[in-house]
This record gives sequence, C-alpha cells and structure tokens, in this order.
Amino acid sequence: MASKTPTVGIHSSKEAIYLSLQEGYDFVGVRLSTDALKQRVESLEPFESVQEFFDSEIAYHPEEYVNKVVGLTSEWIELDSNDALIAQRSEEILMKEVSFASYCGLASVLCNGPKYADNITQYARSCSTILNSSYNITLVLQFPIEYGQEDLFESWKMWNIVRTSCKYNPRLQVALELPPSCSPPIELVNRWYAEPIGMISLSCMAFVPNPTGYPVLSRKLRAIFSLYLRLNPKVFLRDSNVPDKIGESPDYSIYMKHLFDTQPPAPLVEEFAGGYKDYLQIPLQPLSHNLENITYEIFERDPVKYAQYEQAIFAALNDRDANSVTRIAVVGAGRGPLVDCALRAAISSARTVDMIALEKNPNAFAMLLLRNRQDWAGKVTLVFGDMREWNPDYKIDILVSELLGSMADNELSPECLDGVQRVLNPITGISIPSSYASYITPIMSPKLWSEVRNMNDASAFARQYVVLMNSVDFLAPNDEFRFQPLWSFHHPNDETKLFSKNQHNRRNAAVRFQATNPGVLHGFAGYFEATLYKNISLSTLPTTMEEKSPDMFSWFPIYIPIEKPMYVPENSQLQLHLWRMTDGARVWFEWSANTYLVLRNGSHIHLSSTDIHNASGRGFSYLMN
Ligand SMILES: C[S@@+](CC[C@H](N)C(=O)[O-])C[C@H]1O[C@@H](n2cnc3c(N)ncnc32)[C@H](O)[C@@H]1O
Repeated sequence: MASKTPTVGIHSSKEAIYLSLQEGYDFVGVRLSTDALKQRVESLEPFESVQEFFDSEIAYHPEEYVNKVVGLTSEWIELDSNDALIAQRSEEILMKEVSFASYCGLASVLCNGPKYADNITQYARSCSTILNSSYNITLVLQFPIEYGQEDLFESWKMWNIVRTSCKYNPRLQVALELPPSCSPPIELVNRWYAEPIGMISLSCMAFVPNPTGYPVLSRKLRAIFSLYLRLNPKVFLRDSNVPDKIGESPDYSIYMKHLFDTQPPAPLVEEFAGGYKDYLQIPLQPLSHNLENITYEIFERDPVKYAQYEQAIFAALNDRDANSVTRIAVVGAGRGPLVDCALRAAISSARTVDMIALEKNPNAFAMLLLRNRQDWAGKVTLVFGDMREWNPDYKIDILVSELLGSMADNELSPECLDGVQRVLNPITGISIPSSYASYITPIMSPKLWSEVRNMNDASAFARQYVVLMNSVDFLAPNDEFRFQPLWSFHHPNDETKLFSKNQHNRRNAAVRFQATNPGVLHGFAGYFEATLYKNISLSTLPTTMEEKSPDMFSWFPIYIPIEKPMYVPENSQLQLHLWRMTDGARVWFEWSANTYLVLRNGSHIHLSSTDIHNASGRGFSYLMN
C-alpha cells in the first residue's frame, strides 16, 4: 500500500492564502483575530467581557479555501497564567476564537501550549471546557519536544496531564515543536511518536542553505523527521515572513516533499498491510469457526512462512533413511499450501513420501478436493474431520501443522496437537513445529487504548487484540530483558503429562520490567517464537525476527490492554501476571499488572495494581469445540 505524502503548510494571511497554496503548500495557518482584539481585552475592566468581535478584530472570514486553513488562535492567550484575571480572559477569548473557527468551517485550530508546569491542571481544565463546548473542531496544542535539560520528559509530562484530564478526547492533538538545534534522545523521540501528533511545527529558521543555496534541514532534524513522517502528520513551517510578504518561497515545500520521496522503503509488512496500522482485530478462532476463503488467501500471501516450513520439512526428510517411505500428514491443511511445501521438499530431498492432508473446515476441504484433482494428480490422501478424532490404521512420521496465533498458543494449537499426537509413530514421529514460546513487553499507546475504550463494550478490556502496532512506545526499552518469555509448549507432548479437562495446558507467569523513563502503561504487546525443526524457526519477536524469519508478516503482535492506564514514574518496575486458564471446554487468559517504585537502597514500594482482567473468562474465551 503506497504511503501518503506529507501535508506541508505555512503561516499565511487572509490575503496570501491563494498564493501560498499556488506555491505548493497544502495548507496555511491563518490568524483568526488581529492585535486590536488584544488591545481591547487589555483595556477591559474586570467586570467587562468581550461579547462579539469588532470588524477590526477579525483577521479571517470563511472563503473558498476553508478546507485548507488551520486557524491560529491568539498568541497572547495564557490559559495557565498565574494572574487569575488573565487566565479567565484567555479562556473566554480562546472559547470565542474556537467557536468562530468552528462557525467558519475550519477542521482544526492551533493553540499555545502551557507555560507553567505548576498550573498545568488549570490549562487542562480550560482545554476540557473548550472541547466540551464544541463538537467538531480539533484543538492542536503546541508542545516543544523537550524543555531544557533538567527533566527531558517535562514537556511530555505536561501533555500527559492535559490528555488524561481531557479523557483522551480524540479532538485533542499535539503540534510537536522541533526547535532548530534540537537533538533529543531517541527515547524522547519515540515517546512522542506514540502520541496523537496532528502536526509537526518547525521554524523556517531551522533550514540552512545547502551549497547551491536551497534551504535544507540538518542531519539530526532529518533523522527525526524520517521517523515522524511515518505518522503522516501535517508539517507546519512557522516563523516565515509570509503575512507581510504576500507569497513565500516554495523551496521549503519542495524540500519537505523531496525528503519524503527519498525515504527508505517501508518494511515489507507495511507494503502489504499498511492500512491495518493500529487497527484492532479480535483474534481468529480457527478451531471453533470456519475461516473464509479470503482469510486463507491472505495467509498465503506471506512467502516467508511457507519457505521456512518447506526448509524444515526438507531438513526433517534429509535426516531420514533415504530408502524409507515417509508418511507426512498436514493437519489443518486449509487450502493446501503446506501440502505444496511438503511435496516440494520431498522432490528436493529425493525422498519418497506418502502425503495426507486433513482439514475440518468443509469449505476449505472442497478446495483440497479440487487441488488434489488438478495439482497433485490425486496422490494426496484427503481426510475430512477434526484432527483430535482422527483414527487412521497407520502411524505418521511427520505431523505438519500451522495453528499458531499471535501469541503462539492462543488459537489453541496445543489443544489440537495434543489430540492428534497419538497418530504419530511413537518412536520416530516428529511434529513441525516442535515447540513455541510466547513473549511479552509493556507498552504505552494512547491510540490503542482509546480504540479499546471507544468500543463501549463491557468485554472490550477482557479481550486481546491482533494489531499491526504503530503508535506505540516501549516502556522498558533499556531493560536487557525487555521482551520476556512467558511460557512454552512442546510437541509431541509427553503422554504421561496429559491430564483430564486439558489441565496440563494451564500456564501462568509473572514477569517484571525495569522502566527508567516515566510513562503510562496502557497494556502489553505479545509475540512468539516457534521452532519448526532443529534450528529452523519462525519469529515475530522484534529482537530475533530479522535473524529467524526476516520479512515474515503472517502474524501481527497481540495487544493485551489494561482498563485503567497506570502512570509509571522514572525508575520503577512494571509487573505482569498472566494466566492461561482452561476448563476442558474453553481456554481463556486472565491478567493483572502492578507498578513499583524502586528506591535507591533497592527496596520496592508498591504504587498501584489493576483489576484481574477477564476474570473466570467472563469476557472472552477461545472455544475448544
Ligand atoms: C491457520 S490455518 C492454516 C491453514 C494452512 N495450513 C496454511 O498454513 O495456510 C489453520 C487451519 O487449521 C484448521 N483446523 C483448526 N483446528 C483444527 C482441528 N482440530 N482439526 C482439523 N483442522 C483444524 C482450520 O480450519 C484452518 O484451516
């Protein structure tokens, strides 16, 4: 899927809008009121207020290009002023300007950010009041990426209070200011990446002339931009002289678009599924539901998964006596791609195989019948039914399956494979995959969390979601163990360890992570690694996927949300408890999180805990039948 081009805008005036757009800018920032308004406000008695704007105070009227205009609210507005009267007047005027912008049909207005950390809640209250009094317009608040050197996260902390106080209102966004000479640490750049950045605000002073005299950005700014461009923000070039000059050099716009065009190509997964970024999907239940044709078609688009399986089957065949006949069963064969892999592996390893394909979805089975007739010369034995009930009068040498979910076991691969493993040759039979393990890491994502909250569904926080994560920041990036294993499953399973009611497939884990920077915990991201055969594996884990199965995109990570976001101070620890529960008829996950402050002497102070999510599987479970 092609990426969108960035939207570049510049400060303009009512008279210069047309010229600025002609010069290649996609939008313009236009002041809503003139200095005359400020003068009148300053001369008001405490008991007076502005009722309506005077003609001389209005800097903009709705016109032809209204959908390309961002309203600039008055710069002298100070919602968090220490002077109560100034704060009150500021709120009144901002409310009027926003109301006027909304009347004009503008989609968003750019507002001053807060100045004083001590008065941030007052600032947040005014934003909340203004959001509550308007229904369509978006408030884009200016925040510098960092304030000074003392507390790198100070600016983000202020924004976090505003966002939280305004209940993650989707009409509240950040205009992230990049000062000309900024070089923030990567943790801070990544932190803002997870926030709703509606705009990147950059001073024209940040551009320097290149050897041919054209304005370009420094290497550091280019690097930051490269990351943020993936969010498709509006890029607003401030401090231009446009309002006085009528028209402005198109060079900035040309350069910004050139920067975008010369970005390295997006990872393959984005090419394939860019439209799914941050889109939450409820995990599939291929055991209890029958998948649709299109779902199989999408699975089959990932060449990497099948290449890994083919390699694994090839290696397993190579390890067998060259003169033996190997019985391979693909269980859960879908439309047959793993059968193709096995047949190709047999040819390349020069082994004789007896191929069986089993599937319980009658619709996919119809495709297997067709493929056997058309592609496999009727040489594949097709079996219709549930693998757990299959009773062949022969034994299988290699059992091939792909029943993995985004956290490996969550689509009930262990339950299915435990049920079918009795068909394996008890001495030499193997399963591909032979094992898999789930991994987890804590994340901050206002975006994903809001998506779950906005479902307005009592079970929303009891579910896990498959999602191509984009607006996410990792909360333990400096922790050596930032992705921790939860548990694993091995196949074939030791017969003596199979208990009634599936109790052997219960698991629980408690893992801790070290957070050095402050943040907000919105949940956890889950991944997996699977060993197919010997050293041939699949991985969705960011730290090993490049090495084990580069460019594989069959699985997006899983998002495990928590209902109430938890503030995580600097130098604290996050703990997740996760349980895989089963009663023999279904499997479900329960989870809870804790935060601890770590003191210099090494002791831990408990800060907060969540509820147990999805207690007793009341909200969501995976059905075993
Ligand atoms: C994730 S799909 C994989 C399909 C195909 N093997 C592939 O890799 O493209 C899992 C398949 O297993 C089937 N399946 C799941 N549980 C099963 C069971 N207990 N018995 C038989 N088939 C099952 C589903 O219907 C589905 O076709």
